[in-house]
Amino acid sequence: MIEIIGPLVHATAGTTATPAADASAAKPAPLQKQLIERLQQAILTGRLPAGSLLPSSRLLATEMGVSRNTVVIAYEHLAAVGYVFADRKGTRVSTLSSPAARGTPRAPSAAPEIAYASRVSQFEATRTHTENLYALTPGTPALDRFPLAAWRRALERAMERALPLALGYGTPAGEPALRDAIAAHLRVARGVRCDGAQIVITEGAQEALNLCVHLLSNPGDVAWAEDPGYRGAKAAFNLGDLSTVPIPVDSEGMDVPAAAWRAHPPKLIYTSPAHQYPTGAVLSVARRLELIAQARRCGAWIIEDDYDGEFRHTGEPIASMQGLVDDAPVLYVGSFSKTMFPALRIGFVVLPRAIAEQAAVALQEMLRGGHRLEQLALAHFIEGGEFGRHLGRMRRLYRERQQALRDALAEHFVSLFTARFASHVTSHAGLHAAPPQILGGDCGMHLTLRLPAWLCDRTLVERAHAEGLNPRALSGFALRASGETNGIVIGYGNTPAEQLAPAIRVLAALAREIEGEAVAGEPREASRSVGKSAAGGALKSRVKAGAEAKPKARTATTQRP
Ligand SMILES: Cc1ncc(COP(=O)(O)O)c(C=O)c1O
Repeated sequence: MIEIIGPLVHATAGTTATPAADASAAKPAPLQKQLIERLQQAILTGRLPAGSLLPSSRLLATEMGVSRNTVVIAYEHLAAVGYVFADRKGTRVSTLSSPAARGTPRAPSAAPEIAYASRVSQFEATRTHTENLYALTPGTPALDRFPLAAWRRALERAMERALPLALGYGTPAGEPALRDAIAAHLRVARGVRCDGAQIVITEGAQEALNLCVHLLSNPGDVAWAEDPGYRGAKAAFNLGDLSTVPIPVDSEGMDVPAAAWRAHPPKLIYTSPAHQYPTGAVLSVARRLELIAQARRCGAWIIEDDYDGEFRHTGEPIASMQGLVDDAPVLYVGSFSKTMFPALRIGFVVLPRAIAEQAAVALQEMLRGGHRLEQLALAHFIEGGEFGRHLGRMRRLYRERQQALRDALAEHFVSLFTARFASHVTSHAGLHAAPPQILGGDCGMHLTLRLPAWLCDRTLVERAHAEGLNPRALSGFALRASGETNGIVIGYGNTPAEQLAPAIRVLAALAREIEGEAVAGEPREASRSVGKSAAGGALKSRVKAGAEAKPKARTATTQRP
């Protein structure tokens, strides 16, 4: 039997139960567990075929150098889960399903061949979560400015008042106290027409988008998405097996071609009207009204994603589309990822009243009420005024940081490029002289910088990552390949104002390096990072030699895990 299942390893001396010692096992499992696993493996891989008789417990115990009890218990366990059975002659191996179903042994490195659902291949890798700690990451708020002490108090209060009941399942649509608090806030701050009964609490905006898809569309239906646009919306449409139609975006937001209503009548329309992601455009009132009217006419639902509309930096707050007219066919989606912190994973959708009433049964079945303590704490945080105070502080902070970013771009990027373009235009056909253009900025925590075609955004971003900076490539948000979406999306939420100028100077130096390669006609491979190359070394010293130090790779308060 030892030849078939291999020797066991004693815990005490690190020696095997047999003369064939296995000194490599530092912390061996208990003998009984080892024996069970070895026998299971031998049966699953066919080394102990169906019907074969196992040695008696006495014999096996002697052979393996363990107590008989160890073997008896192992046999009993294997019999209980069906690997073996006892008959008149002793313990035999059961007939299991076909070898294919049991899995055939393969080389440890071979990738398993899994027949994924076709929608899986539609997803593209666009980020890793560790990058979110880098400076210039779009969409990450100032985590070090979050009022932790107040939040801790809110959580403690929820625990004192709601335990142990709040450990059980909650209302599927979320804690009524939180839904009421959100409704009260939205009516005042965002002009949303709603009460708590229309609100469903979700695991961030992403689950809210999925919920809209599941409630209101069938596989094959057409969904419109902004292009360039939020990848989370595309992911939700993929999951619903919808056919996504890209709708272009200009300086007034989503620009629906008149023919699209007839050519691709939508069931769902995703838009981020307060601050288009990622271009930052504000959807004009004329377009909002037209979208609502046409959606009504063709029976479509608009999903309004108001992910960072709370952070308005210029002029009066722009109210939601949902509240623009009576009974707008709009599902208003919100998130606390920017206003609180992303790991909270609390978002919500405000359903039109009719849907909230008619879909109540479906919602009861689709959702389970959880995260009750966090929801109760958040309700208290909002009602007690902490949330409003935090928003006010963050608005001021982001405004300051945006200004610092604009100043840095003007000083180190735009002017530098305007001058250099002019000098290259005559000498190098194909490079054009338009300076990079800054988009957005009315709201939120990022600015978008359009780049000329010769300065490939993905190359710039890849080299920036090697320097510990994490702007995103605008082309990564495009639904269709198009030269118009060449740019970088620069977050300022997570980057202190004093780090912005040095960071932008690094980006400008990288851009200059790429420009030099374009002029010389020798573009480097996008995959070669600056930090690892000789050129990178040169770049780093150029940056260091400048008036200010090279930016820290990460934000002041966060460390890469
Ligand atoms: C356009 C947009 N909508 C919504 C969200 C928030 O998503 P969630 O609440 O799932 O974190 C983000 C986050 O980056 C976003 O960029």
